Amino acid sequence: MIQKLPFSYEGTDADVQRLAVLLGEVFALAGLRFSGKLAVLNLACGRADETGALAAAVAPAEMGFYLGMDLRADAIAEAWNRWELPGGEIDFREGNAAMIGRMEGLPEFDMVFIRHQNYWHEPMVWEGILEESLAALKQSGHLVCTSYFDLEHELLVASMRARGAKILANVRHAFSRELPDATGKSVDRWVAVFGK
Ligand SMILES: C[S@@+](CC[C@H](N)C(=O)[O-])C[C@H]1O[C@@H](n2cnc3c(N)ncnc32)[C@H](O)[C@@H]1O
Repeated sequence: MIQKLPFSYEGTDADVQRLAVLLGEVFALAGLRFSGKLAVLNLACGRADETGALAAAVAPAEMGFYLGMDLRADAIAEAWNRWELPGGEIDFREGNAAMIGRMEGLPEFDMVFIRHQNYWHEPMVWEGILEESLAALKQSGHLVCTSYFDLEHELLVASMRARGAKILANVRHAFSRELPDATGKSVDRWVAVFGK
């Protein structure tokens, strides 16, 4: 994975470096080892800042196909300008993550990644996104989600438990950067790994 543009927001470089380490640790805790070429779906990806961290965390596997999707056209345009995947296929699409099942021609995914999910604010929308995420996975695939807030993460985990997903790891990030815009909010504060 090649990053063509620097990150435009202060602190993001260090955040994604910490995220790569965190994901490596969480995958090990969940007993996951990746190999070969993976199909990875990044839902609600925004500018897809996390792309390089994700690629690093699945090594020695590589991404053979990587698709990022978000509602915001400006964020998708920035993601296109930033990332390149030599030897693989990369795609960023403006669209509703809750409709991913209606998109034709997609493979079954090894991993669906959702960074800073927003379940708390729109539970019904996110119920749809979580349902579609599980449906988009291979039987052996994994859903990986991070959250900004404790309660938001608890709601996500409860929802996944209610739909029968296996909770393979659920970790509070020890070095998560506190954000000043809300009490109890920090970058990748929690991460959870789910299996079908
Ligand atoms: C908190 S941001 C996270 C962005 C990015 N993953 C990150 O961590 O920097 C949440 C993102 O969810 C996107 N989003 C919300 N509802 C969505 C939906 N139904 N389909 C696709 N994206 C959605 C928003 O546009 C926003 O970019």
